[in-house]
Amino acid sequence: MKVVVVGSGGREHALAQVLARTAEVIVTPGNPGIPGSVDTPVLDLVADGSVDLVVVGPEQPLVAGVADRLRKAGVRVFGPGADGARLEGSKAYMKLIAEEAALPTARWEAFTDADLAASHLATLTPPYVIKTDGLAAGKGVLVTDSLAEAEVDVRAKLEGAAFGAAGERVVIEEGLTGVEVSVFAVCDGTRAVCLPVAQDFKRVGDGDAGPNTGGMGAWSPLPFVPEGFEEEVNRTFIEPTLAELTQRGIDYRGVLYAGLMLTADGPKLIEYNVRFGDPDSQVVLLRMTSDLAELLAAAADGDLTTVPAPTFADDTAVLVVAASEGYPVAPRTGDVIDGLDAADAVAGATVLRAGVGADDQGRMVTAGGRVLNVVGRGADAAAARATAYEALGHVSWPGEHHRTDIAPA
Ligand code: AMP
Ligand code: GLY
Repeated sequence: MKVVVVGSGGREHALAQVLARTAEVIVTPGNPGIPGSVDTPVLDLVADGSVDLVVVGPEQPLVAGVADRLRKAGVRVFGPGADGARLEGSKAYMKLIAEEAALPTARWEAFTDADLAASHLATLTPPYVIKTDGLAAGKGVLVTDSLAEAEVDVRAKLEGAAFGAAGERVVIEEGLTGVEVSVFAVCDGTRAVCLPVAQDFKRVGDGDAGPNTGGMGAWSPLPFVPEGFEEEVNRTFIEPTLAELTQRGIDYRGVLYAGLMLTADGPKLIEYNVRFGDPDSQVVLLRMTSDLAELLAAAADGDLTTVPAPTFADDTAVLVVAASEGYPVAPRTGDVIDGLDAADAVAGATVLRAGVGADDQGRMVTAGGRVLNVVGRGADAAAARATAYEALGHVSWPGEHHRTDIAPA
């Protein structure tokens, strides 16, 4: 099978690595640290008919309809069309679907008028949760205990220019408290299979301090989650969602990524994403022992019953992100990365190249905020974490920073 992966980060490196166990893999645009990377538009790559499957990594191309264009060209695609991708592209749409499908989720209201939004805030109790309706590169959500800060934020989003079209509407939600987990459901339009649950660490600093990021680390599986949790998520959230989408004429073939809060009243849906999480899916995908290419192809064909249920190693994976100077506010690029060979040589470690480039001497340099995903595998979280940090200890560049508290020690 020949598979094209669309994207360029750590998630795409993990997808490419696991797919390459059973398939020929090309990554576009990829990066100089991901084998098989080519800087050719995906529509050109599929033009000669030789590609058996396209797997789309990030949400932006899905929201923009790349899966629709590929399907129209007769190509098998793992990733929803623009209609399904609205689940991530619009928070208000996601909440509407959640309501229609009767999913456990935070109460919510949408506003386009700042005065109405501010008066609504005053009727709520903290924490206050304010989201831009549209995609805002992970920066559209504020969770705060301060009503004053919440009001300022609502006005900035609705009246300011900073969020553009994404900020024409805001969603104000009931604040939930609990532990957050990620579940990735591979969907074929009507059926789904949920992969083992993972957790990511979103704040930049130790102890969950500092600003939100795309994710600074992750681990899987989670010992505190009850046996059968993934099946429960499938029954309670994913299957009703697919039924609701089907009723609306949406044939959802791709990942439905449920961000769930484990509250005192049970799991509640925080958000849906329409793609694998980054970095939380890496710790799941790398542990897969069955054929990923075959699974995603079956989902893309609309029939998961043709393949066996996916299987996973029974060890634990812990991933630590090594970030560039200034991330997440203003990441600096172009710093030379030292020690990659030594890190790669650590037994049980996998060093995914997320935001790397090459300089004119062919050296690996930082080219984004999240530069490396250093993954350790071990019998339990403590062993996996020790391996990840041992490998991470070998890499360095000016301004490199990472969290030191990913997963239990
Ligand atoms: P989202 O982009 O919707 O995932 O929101 C980003 C982050 O904000 C989530 O990962 C949560 O940590 C937090 N968050 C979102 N919605 C809520 C909510 N209703 N209650 C509490 N925290 C939330
Ligand atoms: N790690 C969170 C995300 O991919 O959205």
